[in-house]
Amino acid sequence: MTDNGGMKEPVILDQHALIQHHLGIVRDRRTEPWRFRNSIRQLAGLLAAHATRDLKIREETIQTPLTTCNVRRLADRIGLVPILRAGIPMVDPLLELIPEAEVWHLGLYRDEATAKPVPYYNKLPAGSPVDLALVLDPMLATGGSASMACQSMIEWGVAETRVLAVIAAPEGIEKLTTAFPAVSVYACCVDECLNDRKFIVPGLGDAGDRVFNTL
Ligand code: PRP
Repeated sequence: MTDNGGMKEPVILDQHALIQHHLGIVRDRRTEPWRFRNSIRQLAGLLAAHATRDLKIREETIQTPLTTCNVRRLADRIGLVPILRAGIPMVDPLLELIPEAEVWHLGLYRDEATAKPVPYYNKLPAGSPVDLALVLDPMLATGGSASMACQSMIEWGVAETRVLAVIAAPEGIEKLTTAFPAVSVYACCVDECLNDRKFIVPGLGDAGDRVFNTL
């Protein structure tokens, strides 16, 4: 992650062979929901490996079965923040890597007429924010949903937020990083553009519908 005068440069992982492979699967309209979900999980795990490289750690002295040993453990309270619905399959791969993480769901849907996000579920507590929030959503299209999620993290009092997306549009990255320069964005790829219905092109269609077989 490079810092460009306060604004974080997005990290785009489209050179990774496994990411390219699974992107090919999720883009393909013939891919069945179970295979689509599986590839979203694999992509989320690969994104997570990059987005967590520099998490804060603390030293600890423990006993192995043989002797005393200094080890390093994660220091921060980490929150996974999936945006419903499509962010749901991204949760388990992250939880497998960070079992201690908390999961805080945010329900947002995009109004079909305006393409603006509409909140419908938010049970964030008053106070006691996590140290680091990882916002999970396969799609960063206009950036409206991710921006609303980042605003919620600020209002909760979260010190640092990172957004993990499978596919991003240039417009969405621009909107998000301009409005929230301190937020880090990790994406598997950046597509060409949005179409007149604000869908990512070439994209993968509607991730929520493909994950839950509700096309
Ligand atoms: C999709 C997607 C993101 C959002 C991206 O969700 O999963 O949450 O739209 O668009 P944006 O960047 O323009 O805000 P959708 O509203 O279709 O809800 P769903 O996950 O329930 O299908």
